[in-house]
Amino acid sequence: MTTTIEGVSAREILDSRGFPTVEAMVTLAGGVHGTGAVPSGASTGEREAIELRDGDPKRYGGKGVRRAVANVNEILAPELRGMDASDQAGIDGKLIALDGTENKSRLGANALLAVSLACARAAAAAAKTPLYRNLGGAAASLLPVPLLNVINGGRHATNSLDFQEFMIVPHGAPSFAEAMRYGVEVYHALRKLLESRHLTTAVGDEGGFAPALGSHEEALDLLVEAIRAVGLAPGEDVSLALDAAASELVEAGGYAFRKSGGPKRSADDLIALYDGWCRSYPIVSIEDGLGENDWAGWQRLTAALGKRVQLVGDDVFVTNERLLARGIQDHVGNAILIKLNQIGTVTETRAAMKLAASAGYRSIVSHRSGETEDAFIADFAVASGAGQIKTGAPCRSERTAKYNRLLAIADELGGRARYLDPFSGGGRLA
Ligand code: PGA
Ligand code: ZN
Repeated sequence: MTTTIEGVSAREILDSRGFPTVEAMVTLAGGVHGTGAVPSGASTGEREAIELRDGDPKRYGGKGVRRAVANVNEILAPELRGMDASDQAGIDGKLIALDGTENKSRLGANALLAVSLACARAAAAAAKTPLYRNLGGAAASLLPVPLLNVINGGRHATNSLDFQEFMIVPHGAPSFAEAMRYGVEVYHALRKLLESRHLTTAVGDEGGFAPALGSHEEALDLLVEAIRAVGLAPGEDVSLALDAAASELVEAGGYAFRKSGGPKRSADDLIALYDGWCRSYPIVSIEDGLGENDWAGWQRLTAALGKRVQLVGDDVFVTNERLLARGIQDHVGNAILIKLNQIGTVTETRAAMKLAASAGYRSIVSHRSGETEDAFIADFAVASGAGQIKTGAPCRSERTAKYNRLLAIADELGGRARYLDPFSGGGRLA
């Protein structure tokens, strides 16, 4: 079946927070098509590729994306017509060249990524091959360990938790499907614990609960209790992971706990806090423990904890190969969070993951807090063999869409599906 591009179009759709985002469709000469929808973050890194918004206060409070849509329809479409959708690197190279800026600010990373994703889907459809296999080849068979964000704080909720995400990691499960069952059962046990304490079970942006807890430690204690409540072993079957999203806490020379009202902390205070928690709780992974511009602090954090705990750079690396290269050289972190819309094309995202793997850094494929029903990242996690995915609580369809797609892929792979524990040996870094 031909993979020659006949048409490219885009429209404004809505994300899970009710804000506009871009969906693109690529149609091939044979009539086959593929679509791609772009997610959107709330606690974005300063160096992320630019999400182009209209800024017209008369529409969606300025958050409309008609300019990005027009850039697809009027600028990208005529240039891509006739190109080969199966040549992802060629397509992405063309998108990057047409934008022509370092941070994709001219046409918008949302415009570029929608087309990049839609091309990948159209090429897979033309090849009559599942997306994960078309992108990853016949060997793509590693299902990711899910990091389920079951307590939301920070920018994703209006409670008093300063840290953004408290996750459960069912790394000790024998298969992906069993890992989901572990995660879901713990999630439901957590709901019961919250109810019994008369705490709200309303959820935050990523489907995790957003209770008014008194401290971060209370959140960690609740998670351990919920794991035990369903008969699983904390640290062996299910461990904990955090995303402090510390860039959001930065304030003149330190880190301010604005929501809980605690004292301002230094980088070394936070490192000591994490060190203590890692001794008291079964924590296997800490993301953005320090701010995106605090590279010296990150180096000390990595020296202190990097041998025992996965230290994930999100805002600090923003899926950018150049920033990651600097991080590897400077011994900053030991893992990278992978968000396609932070960089803007499939090809650049894969380049960052390749560099990570070559340096022994782990990759965790991730959703954004503003998502759509597009489950591209599920296929992408398997295609890239990342081994871990972070896509929210098992709640709200834009989150479960990704988990459900992974369940389908696991079924399709049958006996060939692999599920590996990256944190074997008591839950610590393998
Ligand atoms: P965001 O948050 O999608 O709101 O940026 C997710 C994260 O920080 O990992
Ligand atoms: Zn993060």
